Amino acid sequence: MSKISLAVDLAGFHLRNPTMNAAGVLGMSPPLLKRVYDAGAGAVVTKSIGPVPRTGHPNPTLVQLSGGALNAMGLPNPGVDYFVDEIAKLKELGVPTVASFFGGSVQEFAEVAYKLTKAGADALELNASCPNVAEELGMLAADAGSVEKVTAAVKDETRLPVFVKLSPNVTNVKTVAKAAEWGGADAITAVNTLLGMAIDVNFRRPVLTNVTGGLSGPAVKPVALRCVWEVSQAVEIPVIGCGGVTTWEDAVEYLLAGASAVEIGTAVMTRGVEVYGEVVRGLERYMTKNGFSRVEEVVGLAHEAGRHTESRVDKCNIRV
Ligand SMILES: Cc1cc2nc3c(=O)[nH]c(=O)nc-3n(C[C@H](O)[C@H](O)[C@H](O)COP(=O)(O)O)c2cc1C
Repeated sequence: MSKISLAVDLAGFHLRNPTMNAAGVLGMSPPLLKRVYDAGAGAVVTKSIGPVPRTGHPNPTLVQLSGGALNAMGLPNPGVDYFVDEIAKLKELGVPTVASFFGGSVQEFAEVAYKLTKAGADALELNASCPNVAEELGMLAADAGSVEKVTAAVKDETRLPVFVKLSPNVTNVKTVAKAAEWGGADAITAVNTLLGMAIDVNFRRPVLTNVTGGLSGPAVKPVALRCVWEVSQAVEIPVIGCGGVTTWEDAVEYLLAGASAVEIGTAVMTRGVEVYGEVVRGLERYMTKNGFSRVEEVVGLAHEAGRHTESRVDKCNIRV
């Protein structure tokens, strides 16, 4: 019998293994999210839910590129009042559920968090980082002060663990992470999509109706990994890595960089829901081969190696 435990605990939210789907990529249908769970994910994350129904941007809203995907969905969702029933269905199906949510003001964030808590979600992910909704609060994660305020208001309305999802489209992700922690965040999800665009050479115009969109998939992994590295040095709370995880090696990189769990999104477009089980089995093999019995033993290990390298550079008096 294997002595390895893949279970992780994120501020009281128990996962049987450190993988989840990334919000929004697969929408919010309970049967589909149940498939993600049955395929091996440790828990599921819903699409971001807002205070009122929202149609999102007109098509085209998604384009596949060589290194991933570019999307500007505009947060289409049926609104939190409809969504309470969907949470109940996920709970009936026995699926541990993180409800992702957003608002247009501090008050709206707090109200949606309250309703999702009452609906029975197991944890909340506060989406502070959608790059495609400029008409509201702007991109919340661009302003550390607002992130602290919104997080604190949400924490006043819920007893659930709150993960604050940050953006890579900022100068200093550590400052924003620290602000979320000061606001009472229980974990940081790092990160949402990277702002980008694509142009159709035949039509000679931007491919997305919204012009710009969020880049996801393998192309963003080095950026997201760097964010996890920096955030995990800045805060005491757990970090959830997100961005371009496609293989178990990617997941292990995130753990080594300081993530306690990972979210996998765009990879389902090419690998299907089987990607969750494949990553989990690969992680288990890696742990067996390297003598780890718990996931926590892997978390942040590359920082120790990093310190080593720095001191060697100093010793050799190398200028970089
Ligand atoms: C089609 C699509 C829809 C998304 N919708 C959401 C969303 O509703 N809420 C959110 O926080 N992130 C959303 N994201 C961002 C993902 O959750 C994730 O942060 C990003 O795609 C990076 O991870 P990945 O490379 O594994 O996809 C969306 C991404 C895509 C591609």
